[in-house]
Amino acid sequence: MTMDLHTETGDERELIIVVIGSNPEQSLATWFGSNCTGWTGISCEKRTGHVVSVNLTNMNLSGRLHPSLCELSFLEYLKLSDNNFNGTIPTCFGSLGSLKILDLSGNSFGGVVPDDIMRLGQLRELVLSGNRGLRGVLPRWIGNFSSNLEKLDLSSNSFHGKVPDRLFHLKSLRHLDLGDNNLSGNVHEFFQSLEYLSLASNKFFGTLPCFSAATKSLTVLSMANNSLVGGIPTCIGSLEALAHLNLSFNHLSYGLSPRLVFTEKLLVLDLSFNDLSGPLPGKIAAATEKSGLLLLDLSHSKFSGRIPLKITELKSLQALFLSHNLLTGEIPARIGNLTHLQVIDLLHNSLSSLIPLDIVGCFQLLALILNNNNLSGEIQPELDALDSLKILDVSHNKISGEIPLTLAGLKSLEIVDLSSNNFSGTLNDAITK
Ligand SMILES: *[C@@H]1O[C@H](CO)[C@@H](O)[C@H](O)[C@H]1NC(C)=O
Ligand SMILES: *[C@@H]1O[C@H](CO)[C@@H](O)[C@H](O)[C@H]1NC(C)=O
Ligand SMILES: *[C@@H]1O[C@H](CO)[C@@H](O)[C@H](O)[C@H]1NC(C)=O
Ligand SMILES: *[C@@H]1O[C@H](CO)[C@@H](O)[C@H](O)[C@H]1NC(C)=O
Ligand SMILES: *[C@@H]1O[C@H](CO)[C@@H](O)[C@H](O)[C@H]1NC(C)=O
Ligand SMILES: *[C@@H]1O[C@H](CO)[C@@H](O)[C@H](O)[C@H]1NC(C)=O
Ligand SMILES: *[C@@H]1O[C@H](CO)[C@@H](O)[C@H](O)[C@H]1NC(C)=O
Ligand SMILES: *[C@@H]1O[C@H](CO)[C@@H](O)[C@H](O)[C@H]1NC(C)=O
Ligand SMILES: *[C@@H]1O[C@H](CO)[C@@H](O)[C@H](O)[C@H]1NC(C)=O
Repeated sequence: MTMDLHTETGDERELIIVVIGSNPEQSLATWFGSNCTGWTGISCEKRTGHVVSVNLTNMNLSGRLHPSLCELSFLEYLKLSDNNFNGTIPTCFGSLGSLKILDLSGNSFGGVVPDDIMRLGQLRELVLSGNRGLRGVLPRWIGNFSSNLEKLDLSSNSFHGKVPDRLFHLKSLRHLDLGDNNLSGNVHEFFQSLEYLSLASNKFFGTLPCFSAATKSLTVLSMANNSLVGGIPTCIGSLEALAHLNLSFNHLSYGLSPRLVFTEKLLVLDLSFNDLSGPLPGKIAAATEKSGLLLLDLSHSKFSGRIPLKITELKSLQALFLSHNLLTGEIPARIGNLTHLQVIDLLHNSLSSLIPLDIVGCFQLLALILNNNNLSGEIQPELDALDSLKILDVSHNKISGEIPLTLAGLKSLEIVDLSSNNFSGTLNDAITK
């Protein structure tokens, strides 16, 4: 069923009824009567009756937006996210001069962002993410059309070309997400107190700036999956509020400076899939009993040397990924001090010696992935204590001993690969026990 959008203007108060696109579930059946009390998704200003807010997120609405929507000239909040609207963004949106928040994310809008949007000088949030059909270069006005703009989310669209320079200088901006487009150009310094910045999955190049203007505010920084080169500057460690840093899938190189130490606020550090080399960092982040790194991913680079004992001081660590490097030496026994660990992935290194018994300290371990190393000796029966373990891969090592003994007590095991070792006994025996 497709309803048309129409407007009604009362005598004394402006009252406008809007029905947009098609609404199969009739969730808008509450829209009747002479004022908008209790209308799903609609709020009016009490005294005047002006519609000030339209929030129709996730209501399975579809079709094109009707230009009559733009007659709601007192609208401050328009959120139509997560529906199936298509067609272009109506140019008449430019006449919604009071609009503070415009969220059209998660629809099927296409074409370019109309220049009329630049008339929305009160706008605080512009969220157009997740409309794959939105394309073209970023409008030149995007960096200075509203001096109130705090949040700009244009992620997962199809924009290409350079980021307009003025956006780097827009003082009000706190949240900028341009991820997952086809944008390019040299990344350079941002000049505002950003809290959230994602440029992930684009074609940006150049070296990593220091984000000095955001030293106290930047909480999330993702530049993953671009073409960044050079080293990771130690100034990145001075970002006091940083909780999430993702620089994976770039061409970052050189070693990590011992002076690069993050605060205990950092929860997620993903530097995987780069060309980083030299020893693994001793102290990469401050840690306390209560807070500190949860996920450390330094996999798929060129780190060499031993796994430093300092890593075992990251008490809150839940996932440790060091696979596909050039690591040697043994797995430190003290890894068992990391009692919150759920994943240990050391695949494809040159680690040797025994799997340390103390690893049973990681009693919440779900996945132990140690294949393609030089591990030897027997898997000791005490490892049975890892009774949460679901995945055990020790294939392509030099481990010996009897298979049944190895597996008997691991109650939760779902996937096991012991191949290409020197085990005796048969796997069948092991599984049935
Ligand atoms: C709005 O309409 C409802 C009934 O539809 C009525 O109970 C209420 O008093 C009206 N409110 C105003 C402000 O007119
Ligand atoms: C918009 O609607 C959604 C879903 O009904 C709700 O979760 C959200 O809080 C609403 N936002 C505002 C500002 O009313
Ligand atoms: C959404 O609407 C379409 C028709 O436009 C219908 O086929 C589909 O079942 C609806 N989905 C939900 C979750 O209601
Ligand atoms: C928009 O969606 C409607 C159905 O929801 C469809 O009939 C129409 O062809 C679509 N238009 C475009 C331009 O994709
Ligand atoms: C944006 O900057 C351009 C060039 O500096 C200027 O011409 C334009 O008036 C500015 N727009 C606003 C809204 O300040
Ligand atoms: C992205 O841009 C490059 C040129 O910079 C172009 O060759 C490529 O086709 C574009 N990819 C997409 C998916 O638009
Ligand atoms: C990296 O970005 C490309 C598009 O530029 C995308 O196809 C690919 O899936 C992304 N890779 C990851 C790991 O996110
Ligand atoms: C980092 O970004 C990459 C590429 O977008 C993504 O595949 C990966 O899951 C992200 N890492 C974390 C820990 O979120
Ligand atoms: C860490 O582990 C070692 C040996 O595995 C042990 O001697 C030491 O007491 C542990 N330290 C803490 C703080 O648990």
